[in-house]
Amino acid sequence: MTVQFEDSYSRKFYYLRLSITDVCNFRCTYCLPDGYKPAHKNSGFLSIDELKRVVSAFAHCGTSKVRITGGEPSLRKDFTDILSMISSQEGIEKVAMTTNGYRLAKHAQSWRDAGLTNLNVSVDSLDARMFHQITGENKFREVMAGIDAAFDAGFEQVKVNAVLLKDLNSSELPAFLRWIKDKPIQLRFIELMQTGDMNSLFEKHHQSGVSIRNHLIANGWLMKVRERSDGPAEVFCHPDYVGEIGLIMPYKKDFCDSCNRLRVSALGKLHMCLFGDYGVELRDLLQEDKQEVELIARIQGQLADKKQSHFLDQGHTGMTPHLASIGG
Ligand code: 5AD
Ligand code: SF4
Repeated sequence: MTVQFEDSYSRKFYYLRLSITDVCNFRCTYCLPDGYKPAHKNSGFLSIDELKRVVSAFAHCGTSKVRITGGEPSLRKDFTDILSMISSQEGIEKVAMTTNGYRLAKHAQSWRDAGLTNLNVSVDSLDARMFHQITGENKFREVMAGIDAAFDAGFEQVKVNAVLLKDLNSSELPAFLRWIKDKPIQLRFIELMQTGDMNSLFEKHHQSGVSIRNHLIANGWLMKVRERSDGPAEVFCHPDYVGEIGLIMPYKKDFCDSCNRLRVSALGKLHMCLFGDYGVELRDLLQEDKQEVELIARIQGQLADKKQSHFLDQGHTGMTPHLASIGG
């Protein structure tokens, strides 16, 4: 290992979130309510060779887990090749993806065969009509079939993300709990985060995860000791449930203390934080293998400037217009 990526608050970064496309075919109300619109005249998303150089540099500096994000990463035609490329890099032990699940039923097995080890699927509602209303797509059944296919393909646990939305899915906690009773699903409730493009939606629908946490604790759920791979999620388990509940509450004080991740966007910019004000160009150093030393030095230089917190609680949203542009 060359150097371990670490910042001035002694946080170590062994986890890379790598966005491979901005494009998404869903229209989640809190993300791309009007659907995907190309916002940049770009020179294309990072090629597989450029992605390889990103992953290689990170792997040489202590990164052992890569999560592929988007947009919807599986919309890239070379997605399976990207999986194989990442999983064959030395030092990378976990290859994860976050997906809307749209193509999962068809591809779960081939993705697993290509080296995918961990899977997060977004399911904001267990009611097909509400799912349609929130995501803009009438694809609830396909996504659920995708989760079944993932288990069939040999994934031992599937993580499911649900963004908490007051007056939309906020009454569904009992249904979600019934769903995970006998299934090895870690259901992660994510508090809605305010992004640049959001206007009244945040005030209207933001709901704190505290009410869920109180309900869980009152009903015999126990908070698990944090594992290195949990990042900022609080995870709860219950002796009567196979599944687990994760709570992601970005507005909570100290949320950023356990930050263990760095992000690279689909256009090759390094983002120190989801809510940072700027991204740092890496693409010019992704053109040849021999640039790796310079690439590592540039990333290292940025780590010194990584802020302690995202300051979201002070209404700060940074430059991120919506999470599809940087990969959640
Ligand atoms: N707040 C919270 N979660 C969000 N996601 C996308 N946008 C937001 C937001 N503004 C979630 C998606 C997906 C994950 C990548 O991030 O639902 O599960
Ligand atoms: Fe697509 Fe994910 Fe954004 Fe929904 S949240 S529109 S699935 S990128």
